[in-house]
Amino acid sequence: MNFAHKLRKLFHPEIIGSMREHIHRAFHPVSARRLQRELEMDPSWEKLRRKYPRGIKEVHRFGDTKFWIKRNVERAQDLSLDRGRRRHILDLGCGPGFFLYVAERLGHTGVGLDVDEQAIFRDTLRLLKVKRVVHCIRPRFHLPAPGKKFDLITSYLTCFHRLERLRDGNWRTWSTAEWQFFIDDVRANQLKKGGMLLLEFHPQKNGELYPADVRELFLKNRARVFRSKVFLK
Ligand SMILES: C[S@@+](CC[C@H](N)C(=O)[O-])C[C@H]1O[C@@H](n2cnc3c(N)ncnc32)[C@H](O)[C@@H]1O
Repeated sequence: MNFAHKLRKLFHPEIIGSMREHIHRAFHPVSARRLQRELEMDPSWEKLRRKYPRGIKEVHRFGDTKFWIKRNVERAQDLSLDRGRRRHILDLGCGPGFFLYVAERLGHTGVGLDVDEQAIFRDTLRLLKVKRVVHCIRPRFHLPAPGKKFDLITSYLTCFHRLERLRDGNWRTWSTAEWQFFIDDVRANQLKKGGMLLLEFHPQKNGELYPADVRELFLKNRARVFRSKVFLK
């Protein structure tokens, strides 16, 4: 690899973005350990892990407060939720509620939205005192009308755009028209002026985050794309 190539790699937007995230976390430390220790003072968490043992169901991994608090402190820091003004947040596919729990501990308000399928999530949401609206996101259907619009809408690894599993193990996902409906709905009915939508994608079996035409659509909507994340205003 020659020097010019190495230099180009160093200044690649992905590397710069990742460095910015690391530097920000280093300069604005939030003690995930302290938040987790405070949570674990409640013996209900130990009981929860006995009720939902690891290895029985994949979703039981969400009883691991050490891992999920740390992960969600990083998510909150990457969105600068550890500083700046108070934000009102909607977390799509909130699952166990750890992201909103951390955000609320940092002074923000929020509500989760999810289907009601996992017993463990009912229990974690209650322990974390995170509010959830039960709703299934479907293509070309509006999200429920909020009482108050949001500054920030997040969707971490939610996969609501997956429609059916194909024979090869990958998923048929939303079309560009279905995504445009969703983006228009979020912008018109959910986000405050200047608000932001963050979509984090989980890769399919073939490694794809979303098809090329959907990427084009995001960019046409002035999205910033960084690794598995898409930021839309
Ligand atoms: C892998 S979990 C991620 C949980 C959480 N966002 C996190 O990253 O910690 C995916 C979540 O998305 C939710 N979900 C999937 N499809 C959905 C849909 N169509 N509408 C609402 N929620 C959905 C699931 O119920 C689950 O809670």
